[in-house]
Amino acid sequence: MRGRETSLCSLSQSYGQHANLRKAEESPGRMIRENLIAERIAIDTYREIVRYLGEKDVTTRRMFEEILAVEEEHADDMADLLEGRE
Ligand SMILES: [Fe+2]
Repeated sequence: MRGRETSLCSLSQSYGQHANLRKAEESPGRMIRENLIAERIAIDTYREIVRYLGEKDVTTRRMFEEILAVEEEHADDMADLLEGRE
């Protein structure tokens, strides 16, 4: 279980790092806004997965709920940065 969760997080982080490198030459504000949009898309996707799993697979649902919580923190961080609330 923990290994599968780690693999999903690693994949997600690798994608994020790649995307950030690609945007390194762009303005910080634009990069943060794009990251916030990406975080919100991820949140919507994980919420859909959690809803789909429901009571069918509680263990997998909990795994996605943990990932969802992390993504919500990331989105909050991005929103704070954009509003200068760091
Ligand atoms: Fe994230």
